[in-house]
Amino acid sequence: MLVPAIVAVLLTLVGLRDLWQPLHSIQRNYPIIGHIRWFAELVRPELRQYLIEADEEAAPFSRAQRSLVYQRAKGLAGEHPFGTLLDVYRRGYEFIGHSTCPVPAADPETFRIKIGGEQCSKPYSASVFNISAMSFGSLSANAIRALNKGAKLGNFSHDTGEGSISPYHREHGGDIVWEVASGYFGCRDAEGRFDPDKFRIQAAAEQVRMIEIKLSQGAKPGHGGILPAAKVTQEIAETRGVPMGQDCISPPRHSAFSTPLELMAFITQLRTLSGGKPVGFKLCIGHPWEFMAIVKAMLASGVYPDFIVVDGAEGGTGAAPVEFSDHIGVPMREGLLFVHNVLTGAGIRDRIRLGAAGRIVSAFDIASVLAIGADWANAARGFMFALGCVQSLSCNTNRCPTGVATQDAVRQRAIDVPDKAERVRLFHANTLRALSDMLAAAGIAHPSDVGPHHLVRRVSATEVKQFSQLHTFLEPGVLLDGRCEDGFYNRNWELARAEAF
Ligand SMILES: Cc1cc2nc3c(=O)[nH]c(=O)nc-3n(C[C@H](O)[C@H](O)[C@H](O)COP(=O)(O)O)c2cc1C
Ligand code: SF4
Repeated sequence: MLVPAIVAVLLTLVGLRDLWQPLHSIQRNYPIIGHIRWFAELVRPELRQYLIEADEEAAPFSRAQRSLVYQRAKGLAGEHPFGTLLDVYRRGYEFIGHSTCPVPAADPETFRIKIGGEQCSKPYSASVFNISAMSFGSLSANAIRALNKGAKLGNFSHDTGEGSISPYHREHGGDIVWEVASGYFGCRDAEGRFDPDKFRIQAAAEQVRMIEIKLSQGAKPGHGGILPAAKVTQEIAETRGVPMGQDCISPPRHSAFSTPLELMAFITQLRTLSGGKPVGFKLCIGHPWEFMAIVKAMLASGVYPDFIVVDGAEGGTGAAPVEFSDHIGVPMREGLLFVHNVLTGAGIRDRIRLGAAGRIVSAFDIASVLAIGADWANAARGFMFALGCVQSLSCNTNRCPTGVATQDAVRQRAIDVPDKAERVRLFHANTLRALSDMLAAAGIAHPSDVGPHHLVRRVSATEVKQFSQLHTFLEPGVLLDGRCEDGFYNRNWELARAEAF
């Protein structure tokens, strides 16, 4: 009798509280049972993911995509029985055209490209598949350790993200791309401006292979960021070079340059200070004429970045305002094609390597971006899945259930670094093995030989088209000598000025 009595008293108290509390209308009208709605809301993501979500439903990655990464990261066979589950007659369905004379599958170890043009004295031999920028701060120390160790084991690169180089990036010695963003973390003075001396010291590390200036990020282009004072731990403060007890601010724009020509001067400065390492930039395309202005500045100054990474509106982040994630920025494929075309039209495509990031998790995803003009692909969330991320979409709460995106010391214990580093390595290796098999079937030996005629898309119930038929591909130099017949490119090229964005 005692237990039911206690339960009855507790429910009565809860019911009275519901009736009198001013915040929740449902609970005022429906005391006690109003909590069922709240509970259903709470467990909705899990119920949806485990019971309701279809295999191909992207949210933002489908169960099929996540399962593929988990399998590859665990080294399990990637085959599936009985034929494709995809509707090959659906508009938008894509495939690679195969050859009647497949070639032997190439050794994925050969899938490397040289990054670093004439103006760089320490070119980097990069894998065609690398870990995209994610900071220590948005990811846990153990996640950073496992990613970097995986990169070391698999001989590919690991981008620091804008949070600079933490001690966890250095522990295992994997190749690093150091991202320098508007907060100049790791190379800033007391006022938050770029500090050349601090940059020179960090960039000199053997482990730092390339420098990436971040102009914008697809998930929140044109938006800065604040790491609230409460989250600025001693480690983060030391890594970023910011004081503890104050908000850590990334402004929306750089203070080291404000025109395309000044950006070129900054690239030269970073190249010199780093002792000749490859320097490039990452952006999500916004106004087309602004990117063209940067290209005009390259032509006017004779300074060429060694690489450009195109991020897309579909890109990920630790946290961003919803309007920025949903409605600002050009999606990756259109951005990539545009950048490839402008560089080609300006006659400088062969001087600059192009990377792409935006929901790339499979060999087919890599082949697709290679077909549109990329030289290599980056993945952020794909590698998070390799670490065990279950897409619970709570990265901004510090309560990541898998220890990937949290600074909570207890939660990040979930990541066993040696085990997860091996998974990172396997995900990379098995994805490139799949790419090699796929290219072999198309009669291609190296990723650099993939072209837009290899990628095919269904455009109607009765028609498929190669990407070479679907899109405009500019001829080399046509923007310079007036031979370009495309109104969109001509108009924006006219608008662009090397002196101003
Ligand atoms: C948790 C998280 C943190 C990120 N942090 C950065 C960052 O510091 N700098 C940056 O340029 N991009 C950052 N990104 C964007 C990724 O580098 C990448 O460009 C984007 O997510 C697209 O790749 P994906 O679809 O493979 O995730 C972050 C993404 C995620 C998911
Ligand atoms: S498990 Fe959830 S919170 Fe953790 S990294 Fe993945 S999406 Fe973010």
